[in-house]
Amino acid sequence: EDIVADHVASYGVNLYQSYGPSGQYTHEFDGDEQFYVDLGRKETVWCLPVLRQFRFDPQFALTNIAVLKHNLNSLIKRSNSTAATNEVPEVTVFSKSPVTLGQPNILICLVDNIFPPVVNITWLSNGHSVTEGVSETSFLSKSDHSFFKISYLTLLPSAEESYDCKVEHWGLDKPLLKHWEPEIPAPMSELTEVDIEGR
Ligand SMILES: *[C@@H]1O[C@H](CO)[C@@H](O)[C@H](O)[C@H]1NC(C)=O
Ligand SMILES: *[C@@H]1O[C@H](CO)[C@@H](O)[C@H](O)[C@H]1NC(C)=O
Repeated sequence: EDIVADHVASYGVNLYQSYGPSGQYTHEFDGDEQFYVDLGRKETVWCLPVLRQFRFDPQFALTNIAVLKHNLNSLIKRSNSTAATNEVPEVTVFSKSPVTLGQPNILICLVDNIFPPVVNITWLSNGHSVTEGVSETSFLSKSDHSFFKISYLTLLPSAEESYDCKVEHWGLDKPLLKHWEPEIPAPMSELTEVDIEGR
């Protein structure tokens, strides 16, 4: 019999790493983040409006993270403070919907194969830093123990603006810039000319 449903729920993804240091507590379902616990503000933050009816006690996450922190410190000692091996992240940029100039859209920067989970993802517009309209997911877990993270930029595509998703990670020699600009269809007459010349 065919398997018709294959879902993955990762409830209680605990992450704690010694740089910073910082921790993260999330629940995921089929690769989507359902909520994270803001450990500083001791608050559960639901990622989808439809989920806001649910409740989750942030104290549960704080207790877990405290245990993790304690265990990590023992493990660091046992490994003689051997640093984790840096992986090279993979970056892809694409738009959420097909692009029409002047129509609001969202640029998606998918950063895959993140390890260790310390990264900066920022956006540039024509080479200048953009902070407005930017949001990002938590570190989302993968079966190979690396992580992925998605950064979003809301934009109004125009012919004059190009964008870069900038990724900083210890696995990279220098910040990686992934370029994106709207594809503007060539006017018909030009296409015809090229076509004629090509024959
Ligand atoms: C840590 O260092 C001690 C003393 O130098 C050594 O005996 C031990 O094997 C080391 N442990 C690891 C995991 O490298
Ligand atoms: C991220 O940015 C901060 C602030 O500019 C910097 O100190 C840190 O080294 C960056 N992290 C990485 C992994 O490059």
